[in-house]
Amino acid sequence: MQVIKSINEMQAQSVSLRHQGKLISFVPTMGYLHEGHLSLFEVAKEESDITIASIFVNPTQFGPNEDLDQYPRSVERDLKLCEERGVDIVFLPSEKELYPEGYSTYVCEETLSQPLCGVSRPNFFKGVCTVVAKLFNVVRPDIAVFGQKDAQQASVIRKMVNDLHFPVEIRVAPIVREEDGLAMSSRNAYLNEFQRKDATRIYQALQKGKALYEGGNKNVDRIIAEVIHHISECRRLRVIYVNAVDIDTMKPVSREVDPGRTLIACAVWCDEVRLIDNMIL
Ligand code: PAF
Repeated sequence: MQVIKSINEMQAQSVSLRHQGKLISFVPTMGYLHEGHLSLFEVAKEESDITIASIFVNPTQFGPNEDLDQYPRSVERDLKLCEERGVDIVFLPSEKELYPEGYSTYVCEETLSQPLCGVSRPNFFKGVCTVVAKLFNVVRPDIAVFGQKDAQQASVIRKMVNDLHFPVEIRVAPIVREEDGLAMSSRNAYLNEFQRKDATRIYQALQKGKALYEGGNKNVDRIIAEVIHHISECRRLRVIYVNAVDIDTMKPVSREVDPGRTLIACAVWCDEVRLIDNMIL
């Protein structure tokens, strides 16, 4: 496995691989890898000749009072996992090279990024789109793989790719969960034993909503109320949002579930840890 730190070297390597006719897949990450990321590598490997992962904790997607400084980091361990899981190249840029002094160009998607996480994290998707666009220009992948856990992020990136004509196909891989249902996330590392236990309620709440739907109740307000109710029963958990939106457009679904298209997405504070999860009905 190759580890490349410089932008020029990464671009040159990618161009050379393309000349050799290799199909390149790409998994951008912020490191602190878990089974969720590793499942993205699996999808990437199946679809291409060369799998490239990036590890970069992107400062522009964190708000001023968010957890950029505490964000868990473990580069050595991550590199080992990448190697074990058959990643061919890890791109490990420095902040200085990706955002040199005086950096002033950003990519904003202005519609799909507005609801859900866009309300409570107003600059989040601007930071995500900017760094992903930059990484696409450096890594030049044919395919890029994102996780369904960040469903809004995947939709926003797909929109950016269409709007800006990036020659990249976007794949979305299913959510990977812990045994008790908690969606895997690097931020789960922040949870203490008690918080970790209570956090499982988020998935349980989504399951309650799903059970209602499968029992014949298609009304989204009723399903959302059920999810909120189950989360709110735990004092440690505070709902930031629970919304029903169309999976592609992120527009609110008003009355009835549109089967296969309605995303029930939620963000919840578990004490001071922000967790997200979702399901498609
Ligand atoms: O999902 C993430 O880990 C990040 O938002 C991403 C896509 C790597 C951009 O920094």
